[in-house]
This record gives sequence, structure tokens and C-alpha cells, in this order.
Amino acid sequence: MRILLLGFGNVGRAFCELVRNKSGVLKSSYGIDCRFVGIATRSRGCVSDPEGIRIQDLLERDSSTGRLDPGTAGSAALSAGDMVSGMDYDLLVVCTSTTIKSPEVPTAYIKGALERGIGVITSNKGPLFLACRELMDLANRKNTHFFFEAAVMGGTPFFSFARHCLTGSKILSCEGVMNTTSNYILDLMVTGSSFDDALLDARRKGFAEADPTFDVEGWDSAVKGAIIAQVLMGAAPVALESINVQGITQVSLGFLMEAVRSGGAVRLITRVEAEGDSVSISVRPEVLPAANPLSRVHGATNGVLFLTDTLGEVFVAGGGIGPRHTAYSMLRDLIETVELINAKK
Ligand SMILES: NC(=O)c1ccc[n+]([C@@H]2O[C@H](COP(=O)([O-])OP(=O)(O)OC[C@H]3O[C@@H](n4cnc5c(N)ncnc54)[C@H](OP(=O)(O)O)[C@@H]3O)[C@@H](O)[C@H]2O)c1
Repeated sequence: MRILLLGFGNVGRAFCELVRNKSGVLKSSYGIDCRFVGIATRSRGCVSDPEGIRIQDLLERDSSTGRLDPGTAGSAALSAGDMVSGMDYDLLVVCTSTTIKSPEVPTAYIKGALERGIGVITSNKGPLFLACRELMDLANRKNTHFFFEAAVMGGTPFFSFARHCLTGSKILSCEGVMNTTSNYILDLMVTGSSFDDALLDARRKGFAEADPTFDVEGWDSAVKGAIIAQVLMGAAPVALESINVQGITQVSLGFLMEAVRSGGAVRLITRVEAEGDSVSISVRPEVLPAANPLSRVHGATNGVLFLTDTLGEVFVAGGGIGPRHTAYSMLRDLIETVELINAKK
């Protein structure tokens, strides 16, 4: 399995390390022998080696020089785009930075590999928000695979759960706690923190981005809802502005305590519901009764309640956030990709 990796930040590095640490089990249990033949960043260089890049050397060079390549002036380095279109590889792994407003570049990388009949795994939400169905259809047409478990709710099994455990079911709705930063803040506020102090704490612990607006104003949850609507309910892509979004910035202590007194909790809920031929998506803080399992999704964790035509309600929760958990979701996608390729042989 020759891997071309785009993005060598927190997730890219964690993925390389996980693949290296799991090389024994990948080989013995799944017959997978992975090597990274190309790794690209936006501004810190690109490296390639058909025989396999020595990850330890790369990590050391990265930490000492901040670059992947030796950075020799005048050397004609490949770009990420060149690598996608020109190199020989079996799987493209995209963990470049997410940009919801202009995800055209990573989308083009993904299309470039799929067009060549090469499978793709991504942790980047941008291309999914823009064109998830189109990319899935392209993968089908090219008889290859496109997986993105890591892009929505990090390490919580979600799309793979729906794919494997709800096979043959119709998913009528999906509601969940999908933004860990907001959830963490709401929990701290219940214990007496102000919104600002709770946000500072979330930042210190590495849960919140330097600019947390996208999280606390509900937009990150809305993007996830829009992707879920496309993947699980066949909806078309929507403009972010068309989604009914309310974040947690206006949640008062009184509102939170009222919920706690009644035994429940306030949670930022993303709701995706099939309504006839259309799908509605909304994000807002809601008071949930104790009987609702989402009221027990605490801190920096995720939880989703599926409503299906076969099993009724099915609840999935996961604590998986951060680069290592995200990398694990990509490893799971990698194994599934290889199993599907092998099944065709
Ligand atoms: N961190 C998490 O826990 C987590 C969880 C779930 C999903 N994700 C998603 O996973 C992705 C990666 O996250 P991260 O935390 O690893 O981000 P990060 O640390 O900022 O790393 C992003 C990497 O992508 C590279 N990059 C950006 N644009 C590129 C381009 N056009 N071509 C090639 N490389 C490009 C960057 O290059 P430079 O090094 O030159 O800047 C950097 O190496 C994001 O989409 C994020 O939303 C992250």
C-alpha cells in the first residue's frame, strides 16, 4: 500500500506514527504493508521516495528545521498537485487544513486521485461540505473508494457505524452533540465558570481553536449537519447561511441551571431530519430531559442519536477527539479500503 499523504500537521504526523506503530498488526492481521511514497505540505516542502520515506528521519528534520525537504535553494520540488496527478501510489490521504469558505484546492486533489481510480481518505471537512455526494459518486464510477470517518466527530465511530451497523435501515433523523468545544464550555459553566473563563480553559487544554468563533457560534456543527444530510440522507449541498444556526454564546447561567434542576442538561444539538423529499438541518442549544442519552454526553466528547425505521433509536457516543483519535479513524478507513480492494481480486 503506497500512500501519498497531503498535510503533515497534527493529524498527518499522528497518522504516520500510528501507521508505523501498527505496522505489525497491519501486516499480520490484514496483510497490509504500508509505505509513504510522498508527503506534501503547503509551505514546508514536499518529499517523495518510491521505496518509502523514512518517517523517523522526516520527523527529526521537521522538528529541527521546520521543513520536510532539505530546502535547498533552487531545487525543483514537486507540489502537492504534481504529486497527486503524476506519482505512482495506491491511496491518497488528505489531512490538509480545513477551509469551509474555499475548499476548492483539497477538493481538486481528491478528485484528481479518484479520477485516476485511486482511493482517498480525508479528515478535511471542506471538500465534503462542498461536494460530498459528487465525490462519492465519482469514487463509485471509478470503481474505487472514498472514506472520511475522521472528518466528522474525529474518533467517534459514526459513518462507519451507519454503514456497517445500520445496513438496510432508513435513517429518519440524526441528532447529536457534535462540537466538543461547545460541550466542554457548557459543562464548565454549570459548575460556575463564566463563558469567557470556560473558553479560556478549553483553549488551554487544546480543545478550542485560536479563533473559536466557528465552534461556539454553531457553524462547525452546521457544517457537520450538512455533510451528514448529504451522506446519510442523499441531500444536496447547501449554503451555510441557509441553515438555522444558533450557537452557545447567548446561553445564560439561568437557562443552564433550570435544565440541571429538572435533572437534564443543555446541549448544543445538531438536528438532521428527513422531511418527505427534503432534509432539514438546524443547530441550537436545547434543554434535554435526563431520559435523553444526549444529556449525558459530557465534556469534550461527542454523541449521536439515530432514529431508524428498523431499530427505532440507536445511540452512539465517543470520547475520541484530538490528532491521535482522528488518525485512528483514518487507519480504520485504510483497513476497510484494503479489504474492499482485496475482496475484488
Ligand atoms: N486536529 C484534530 O484533532 C482534528 C480532528 C478532526 C479533523 N481534523 C481535520 O484534519 C485536518 C488536519 O488537521 P491538523 O490539526 O493536522 O491541521 P494542521 O496542524 O494545521 O496541519 C495542516 C497541514 O496541511 C498542510 N496543508 C494545508 N494546505 C495544503 C495544501 N493545499 N497542500 C498541501 N498541504 C497543505 C499544512 O501545510 P503547512 O505545514 O505548510 O502549513 C499542514 O502541514 C483539518 O482539515 C482538520 O479540520 C483535525
